[in-house]
Amino acid sequence: MISSIYKGSSLIRRMSSVAGIQPKTAIVMLNMGGPETTDQVGDYLLRIMTDRDMIQLPVQSKLGPWIATRRTAEVQKKYKEIGGGSPILKWTHLQGKLLTDQLDLISPETGPHQHYVAFRYVPPFTHETFEQLEKDGVERAVIFSQYPQYSCATTGSSFNAIADFYKNRPIPSNIEFSMIERWATHPLLAQVFAERIQEKLLKFDESMRDDVLIMFTAHSLPLKAVSRGDTYPHEVAATVALTMSQLGVPNPHRLVWQSKVGPLPWLQPYTDDAIKLYAKQGRKHMILVPIAFVNEHIETLHELDIEYCDEVAKEAGIIQIERASAPNDSPTFISALADVVYSHMRNGPRVSKQFLSRCPHCVSARCEMSKKFFKELCGADTNLNTSRLPA
Ligand code: FES
Repeated sequence: MISSIYKGSSLIRRMSSVAGIQPKTAIVMLNMGGPETTDQVGDYLLRIMTDRDMIQLPVQSKLGPWIATRRTAEVQKKYKEIGGGSPILKWTHLQGKLLTDQLDLISPETGPHQHYVAFRYVPPFTHETFEQLEKDGVERAVIFSQYPQYSCATTGSSFNAIADFYKNRPIPSNIEFSMIERWATHPLLAQVFAERIQEKLLKFDESMRDDVLIMFTAHSLPLKAVSRGDTYPHEVAATVALTMSQLGVPNPHRLVWQSKVGPLPWLQPYTDDAIKLYAKQGRKHMILVPIAFVNEHIETLHELDIEYCDEVAKEAGIIQIERASAPNDSPTFISALADVVYSHMRNGPRVSKQFLSRCPHCVSARCEMSKKFFKELCGADTNLNTSRLPA
């Protein structure tokens, strides 16, 4: 259950600071965010549609707002159908609280730790969060993407928002910044997905359990971005491969893609098409596994649960379809988060060479500026300050 203390978008800070405990290390959890109420939907869509890191449209300053306005009512209806808003902020606060509690125990030298949420398209916005952690006087800030698999459209966009914030503002010299931009192949991440799948496999009759199709599903990406060299498709595939290896079952599996928008070609096969086509092939027992989301939100609760598992599957004649839960507050997942951060604080790097490299076809001045900025912010050429830490 999500604790009621995490209600409200204004709650950026964890309870320790409310109680007056000075945090030493900030864990800044980056994500796109989702509207908490249907009133936020219009602005949320507007910010997405005008973010050129996320989506590139012709005459974007005009077409973006036009699409956002046109889609608002339809998207509001979807949020109403899942209870009136996105639970992503509540889940992120809960994950942050559990993560920092674990860090306080396993790494007291870097504590107290405090989580901060920095969303891209809804409050608490990235700039508000960075203002807050500066005010809180933290000594260290670990900027931690909550997308395990890196894409220039998602994690890249969140990092660019941080670079934007510091364009006209001095970088605080009293904070040691570092960043975790990808963790697609962390063994505990694969383990939590394997556990989530196992929970659902047990719901199928034993006689046919080994034949259930495991369909990993992730947000699709425009083929233009794939051809540019975005690493997201192969990072998602890496999580899938590791999960299947940890699961150790003989079931067939596939990676499919959901949530395409607009008329241009995106990465396929699409999840809804795959459900229908497998039904035609006679494969009528399956599990959908959201492999690129760490908590429930509109794409799991509406697109997967209502549109695909209910409407599409029924129409296609699927006999049994289950949807694996997102990692949410699974203890294995919280241990994964804690281990990612703990290892990072000890072994670095402050900023990875992989992040500092660009897509082969990237011609974006914004990407070039952002990579330079993070090299400076994190001090790529300096070693981590591990002098306070035990070996
Ligand atoms: Fe990938 Fe610029 S689009 S680095």
